[in-house]
Amino acid sequence: MNSEVEVGFANDKGGCGKTTGASHLLWWAEENAVPAIGITTDPQGNLIQRLLDDPKLQPDRRFQYGKYVELVFSPHHVPMLHTKGTAGGRL
Ligand SMILES: Nc1ncnc2c1ncn2[C@@H]1O[C@H](COP(=O)(O)OP(=O)(O)OP(=O)(O)O)[C@@H](O)[C@H]1O
Ligand SMILES: [Mg+2]
Repeated sequence: MNSEVEVGFANDKGGCGKTTGASHLLWWAEENAVPAIGITTDPQGNLIQRLLDDPKLQPDRRFQYGKYVELVFSPHHVPMLHTKGTAGGRL
């Protein structure tokens, strides 16, 4: 059985909790030993900055968060979450 799931946090409105929700879910995954990858397309990399101390952000760089969670900083690619006229799924 394939038990993989993809979760997106996207909203046109700024400051409505996208990054907070994503960071809480990734924290939960780490605490519960659930392997996960968190991908942020926000050029500011807020998601990664909230979870890691002083990360050196470079495009397409991957970061380890704890033992089970990886974070990916992908400011140039918004392939799956992007829909025309929205903020493009930026977390
Ligand atoms: N459920 C919540 N209850 C109260 N405050 C919240 C909640 N979720 C987020 N916040 C607060 O709202 C502010 C904005 O949250 P956040 O940065 O997650 O929004 P965002 O949608 O990612 O914003 P942006 O569009 O700028 O990326 C933060 O100060 C955060 O602490
Ligand atoms: Mg955000």
